[in-house]
Amino acid sequence: MHVELYERIWMWVATLLVALFLGVIVLMAGAQAVAPPGHIETVDPTALATHPEFGKPAVSAGPNGINVSIVAQMFQFTPDTIEVAAGTSVTFRLTSADVIHGFEIAGTNANAMAVPGYVTQFTVTFPKPGEYVIACNEFCGLLHHNMVGKLIVKGESR
Ligand code: CUA
Repeated sequence: MHVELYERIWMWVATLLVALFLGVIVLMAGAQAVAPPGHIETVDPTALATHPEFGKPAVSAGPNGINVSIVAQMFQFTPDTIEVAAGTSVTFRLTSADVIHGFEIAGTNANAMAVPGYVTQFTVTFPKPGEYVIACNEFCGLLHHNMVGKLIVKGESR
């Protein structure tokens, strides 16, 4: 079959572009790792009940401020009300007992995913006292919209 030179050139250009795009994806996946952001720590999601930390997830004094361990599961966060002091460094450690859940503290820059099998860890400071809604922002089932918690930031308002 005869293919015009002009057409052949464009077929090669299209092929090379596709190869380039796929190559970039593969390269970045390898270089940056496809994993929960920031913190690669695993935990057995089927044994959370007996886990030393996630068996009784709670607010505690951490090495550099406050430590908050949270278990997300259909359709609640444990604990569902968290109290911390304004201006203190708060390290959240999240995991999920079932499916992927979201953990977004509305009005702050705290927004992460709770992934079964992994511990998601991030540290934030809340400068403004008040009550904040914690919402699951990953669709996780029929009662996803009911999956909310509350963050109370204590301190004098400035
Ligand atoms: Cu949990 Cu949506």
